[in-house]
Amino acid sequence: MNGKFPQHFLWGGAVAANQVEGAYQADGKGLSTSDLQPQGIFGAITPRTAGDSGIKDVAIDFYHRYPEDIALFAEMGFKCLRTSIAWSRIFPQGDEEMPNEAGLAFYDRLFDEMAKYGIQPLITLSHYEMPYGLVKHYGGWGDRRTIDFFERYARTVFERYKHKVKHWLTFNEINMSLHAPFTGVGLPQESDKSAIYQAIHHQLVASARAVKACHEIVPEGKIGNMLLGGILYPLSCKPEDLLETQRQNRDWLFFGDVQARGYYPAYMQRFFRENGIQVAITEEDRQTLRETIDFISFSYYMSGCVTADPAQYETARGNILDMVPNPHLASSEWGWQIDPIGLRYLLNVLYDRYQKPLFIVENGLGAKDRVEADGSIHDDYRINYLNDHLVQVAEAIDDGVEVMGYTSWGPIDLVSASKAEMSKRYGFIHVDRDDAGNGSLDRRRKKSFYWYRDVIHSNGASLKDRR
Ligand code: BG6
Repeated sequence: MNGKFPQHFLWGGAVAANQVEGAYQADGKGLSTSDLQPQGIFGAITPRTAGDSGIKDVAIDFYHRYPEDIALFAEMGFKCLRTSIAWSRIFPQGDEEMPNEAGLAFYDRLFDEMAKYGIQPLITLSHYEMPYGLVKHYGGWGDRRTIDFFERYARTVFERYKHKVKHWLTFNEINMSLHAPFTGVGLPQESDKSAIYQAIHHQLVASARAVKACHEIVPEGKIGNMLLGGILYPLSCKPEDLLETQRQNRDWLFFGDVQARGYYPAYMQRFFRENGIQVAITEEDRQTLRETIDFISFSYYMSGCVTADPAQYETARGNILDMVPNPHLASSEWGWQIDPIGLRYLLNVLYDRYQKPLFIVENGLGAKDRVEADGSIHDDYRINYLNDHLVQVAEAIDDGVEVMGYTSWGPIDLVSASKAEMSKRYGFIHVDRDDAGNGSLDRRRKKSFYWYRDVIHSNGASLKDRR
């Protein structure tokens, strides 16, 4: 793999505030939607009462332990760390005029710590959470006023961190709202399609406003979107399967099309009409959408298959999308199908479609780890997964795709999003905590820690083509 990765490739890892920070009420933070989902992003909404606790309330206590964690990332040679700002630390209810200084000060400390080691922040404005106050009092993204609240928040953090943060993302896996509306847009799970697409439209307008604000405020700032890259293959070469696959891929590519091109793609007209979906779009909205992102970012864990024949449709819930299993692929312990070549394919699809730089901001293997008697953890399965995906990234770069960087998901064990488990581990760094919240929270290097350090130090030359 020598020489395939560009010289300034941004190697690193990705986490999210609600999955690592804990300290869910510290320093004036308001409740976020994530604080009401102790069972994860598909789980029931649980009202909070004093003394209640979920695994995310402490998570891995990154809020207090970040200096130790950043030092470990630096030891691996990270050039970049992706995390999110918890909106409810900055605007606890969401609709305040003035931000919460203590929340802003936390991220100053975090970014300063990263700067000590030359680690560049890549910051998601909203990763699977928003202030719960906006849901309670306004109905979340269903209400147009949420666009203004979001813009105020975005402008506040751009102004505050414009000299510390140059790379930004708007909404994590923005297409996920189709599957988890409360998590994505703060709507009840049983909302109808018109309500969901209206809220999504508001979020797309808000994303474009953030792009504009970033361009105005952050010198040399670059801002991208973030898609769940759930690429789908036809289960067979039957033309009906192919057409259905195109249709289903458009379900998620729609978001990228609006954010990268600046307008609704033509195919959505028919989709809206045939599904009885009404979305109010003003002329001003159309103008706003023209402010497009600088780069495309996405997560990639698996591919899936599509068939036009409902009788054949076995549903395997993979990550967030419902997919038919691919008979040619093996699965992880959580049933997610492993497809490194799919990453090369997806990179090419997105580059062909948008001709914008791409950033892989999530990819990794959730697995159970065993700590040996001497404290070591031999996670060769994780090394193999990441190695094989990175080999395909190198191939895509060779294909001519412009790839800015790669931040593997969960460089340190964290609370999983889908089921709020600690036992689904992604990290190079082990955290001593179990699903019930027991454990010292001590950090420990796994075998993959040293492997990733070598990959970064050699700029990918140490990767092995195992095909
Ligand atoms: C992505 C999310 O969907 O996948 C992350 O952006 C999430 O927040 C990751 O953690 C892996 O999913 P899970 O459910 O294994 O944590």
